[in-house]
Amino acid sequence: MAPNRRDFLKLGALTGASLFFPFAHAALASHRDGGSGGASPAFTPYTRQLPIPQRKVPLSSTATGDVYAITMKPGLAEILPGVQTPIWGYDGMYPGPLLRTRSQRQVVVHQTNHLEVPTSIHTHGGYVDGDSDGHPSDMIAPGATKTYTFGNDQNARTQWYHDHAEHITAPSAYRGLSAFYIIDDAFDDALPLPKGNYDVPIMLQDRRFNADGTLYYPSDPAVAATDEGFEGDVLVANGKAQPFAPVAARRYRFRFLNGSNARPYLLRLSNGQPFQLIASEGGLLEAPITLTELPIWPAERYEVVIDFGALAIGTSVFLDNGFGSDSVSRILRFDVERAENDPSSVPAVLRPAADQADATHMATTEEAAVTTRTWEFGKSWDGLYTINDKIYDENRIDAFPREGTTEVWEFDNGFGWSHPVHLHLLNFKILDRDGRAPKVHERGWKETVHLGPGEKVRVLMKWPKVPVGPTPGEFLTRYAFHCHNLEHEDHDMMTQFRVDAP
Ligand code: C2O
Ligand code: CU
Ligand code: CU
Repeated sequence: MAPNRRDFLKLGALTGASLFFPFAHAALASHRDGGSGGASPAFTPYTRQLPIPQRKVPLSSTATGDVYAITMKPGLAEILPGVQTPIWGYDGMYPGPLLRTRSQRQVVVHQTNHLEVPTSIHTHGGYVDGDSDGHPSDMIAPGATKTYTFGNDQNARTQWYHDHAEHITAPSAYRGLSAFYIIDDAFDDALPLPKGNYDVPIMLQDRRFNADGTLYYPSDPAVAATDEGFEGDVLVANGKAQPFAPVAARRYRFRFLNGSNARPYLLRLSNGQPFQLIASEGGLLEAPITLTELPIWPAERYEVVIDFGALAIGTSVFLDNGFGSDSVSRILRFDVERAENDPSSVPAVLRPAADQADATHMATTEEAAVTTRTWEFGKSWDGLYTINDKIYDENRIDAFPREGTTEVWEFDNGFGWSHPVHLHLLNFKILDRDGRAPKVHERGWKETVHLGPGEKVRVLMKWPKVPVGPTPGEFLTRYAFHCHNLEHEDHDMMTQFRVDAP
């Protein structure tokens, strides 16, 4: 039997957490910047270039699909300039290799675990059967291999894959187990948006380092879960601490992913210039939205078009984090280094309402809802995070929605902490936030929604048909539903739903 939450905490205390947190520093850290974990070593920002994730080459391909093999293993990454930091990565890389495919094209991934802890790989945003979804309790033991199969029967969108092993997701993802998974489709291709080298995924994370350049993470997992979860004091984009990004004076499409354990960002440009939001987790919006700042919570993805066309060659503009101060206020620097003709544009209509639906998000109305489920996000007397007063139990399922039915889910937060609430399998539309219309940037299809202190958010969804995979197993129709603050998730703000036949 798998250890329960309290056994796990006890095990961590008994072993000095060396089993699960071999890289941890002995001292306890405050969960906030400048805590007793100590500041990360100083470095000179903007001396390393923003890496652009490169598409992994398949092991083999047919007309209809690709097969990949990935090994999770330790590696070294230059996150701070000139410092080699031990990481855990997919193929030993941080971030891991980009998987990029097309709608309807099958992707098979053989994942081999050469780490010392169990893993589970969740492709976040994927429309996939539960056996290939990386259920937190469906783990790959050290030394073992598991095959994940994706039908990709969904519209173009930006997804990601990351570790999801129960109770140790936070430290494992923090050590480097995260990567992009992008789906393209003909509709998106046909739009005049920036493409190719001008379409850049950017993974936003924060890390803290010990004086010797190793990653710092609190040795006691319960400390990491205190209040807001664990935040680092160094901002990292695509695996580099505060890099520079040379750009041409033209439009770019940036696919922002907040891959941080706990930290939210308020994205804005240092010159105050507006940008256009074109997509959220469920893919393209119906129409672009012009913004000057954009909050992004853990696991959220927002795609924006930034036009550097009006900037003089030789000028720079910073991508800032309006939620942070000092070392966490600037993410990266764009350096406008050359003129270039720009054939791209942002059309007034992106994906019109009539073309929005796919298997993960079908149009529906609140009137069609057969039930409203209420979920209270709280904290227990012994410091664990709870959903409806319960902690995660792989043997308990808390909702049994039926395929093809519409439901309203209400998320209630009576406490003082923020929770980015995430459902696997489907996308929803936000109905209201404390009785008011959702914010302008969160009106597209979503699968993660920020639930602020004291807030009540209602979302509307129509349950898709579970796509049956090639080897149906015990997790086929079971999916996770949790807070995506990874420390909260591990400590134990997670439950499951099972999608039943109509
Ligand atoms: Cu990225 Cu269950 O989550
Ligand atoms: Cu997910
Ligand atoms: Cu939370």
